[in-house]
Amino acid sequence: MTMRSMRCLLAVPAVREEFFQKAADSSTDALFLDLEDSVAPDRKIAARANAARALHEIAWKRKRVLVRTNALDTEWAFRDIEHLGANCPRLDGFLIPKVGSVEELHYVEALLGALNRERPPDRALELHILIETALGMARVEAIIEAAKRIVSVSFGVGDYSLSLGGQDRLVGGANKHYAMLTDENPDTSREAHWNDQWHYALARVVNACHAFNVMPLDGPFGNFADTRGFLAAAARGRVLGYQGKWAIHPTQIALANQAYTPSDEEVSWAQAALSALDEAERAGKGAVALNGQLLDVAHRKIANQILARAASVHDP
Ligand code: COA
Ligand code: MG
Repeated sequence: MTMRSMRCLLAVPAVREEFFQKAADSSTDALFLDLEDSVAPDRKIAARANAARALHEIAWKRKRVLVRTNALDTEWAFRDIEHLGANCPRLDGFLIPKVGSVEELHYVEALLGALNRERPPDRALELHILIETALGMARVEAIIEAAKRIVSVSFGVGDYSLSLGGQDRLVGGANKHYAMLTDENPDTSREAHWNDQWHYALARVVNACHAFNVMPLDGPFGNFADTRGFLAAAARGRVLGYQGKWAIHPTQIALANQAYTPSDEEVSWAQAALSALDEAERAGKGAVALNGQLLDVAHRKIANQILARAASVHDP
């Protein structure tokens, strides 16, 4: 995917105006002004007006600026989309929460299509969605396959946990109760092996995204004091195939960027692998060894992906 990176997507409640400039000056690739769950019901209209004002007044630099609307079955969502989409040229797109059906997706795509006819072609509104309910998860492949204009899909771990019965107080963290004990052994004490209770959901969403060529984003990690915990969560998402992670606090931005930027070591490996493979090809060979490890056609693709990811990183 050659689209510009979204290594970090920062959540900014639209009622916290003191956060706006800080978000604009930060090193996040993307952010969303939130009208949904970080805004109390009696502040919904004020939050929408704040978002519109911020989109006009703040210099957001080269950041991708989204608005997270209210869920489509609320009384606010239509006006969120219509008002901001029609009046805010700087807006890059909408993040739609709790998508649960292909019908909802088609409804939003129709609205965006109508709004985009009135916007300059290079300012067409993008669509980003959240899969964060049991229903959305059950239909994730169908939803993404049916989409014409989805750019990214975020796995929203907090609401997903809630929709499964809400066993987790810490958003996106580990849970010591999701563990198995090693067998009784007279020589050693039994160990609890913690598992990742989000593995199934993360793996399903990332597979659906890669199947239909949209960008998978891993959702929030609520304990913003836990740097190592965030980095571990981000690293495991990246290994699964995610391309970025949410931040809910400025301390998490550099961590997400670190986790989702190809390291110097990876870039050097990619360059060395490509030259070794080029040389092998000139000698009529498809496979070759580099530092004692096999390289073949798949490694050429891996190396090219690393370099493409490195090239998609821009100054936010
Ligand atoms: N975006 C931009 N700036 C932020 C920010 C954010 N999401 N969260 C905090 N900041 C800024 C604060 O303004 C403060 O700036 P300053 O040092 O210049 O004064 C600094 O970062 C430290 O903030 P802190 O005092 O630690 O945060 P807080 O206690 O006021 O708020 C949260 C903590 C978690 C409530 C807040 O970070 C937040 O609202 N995050 C987003 C939540 C959200 O959107 N949830 C929905 C999606 S999951
Ligand atoms: Mg949510």
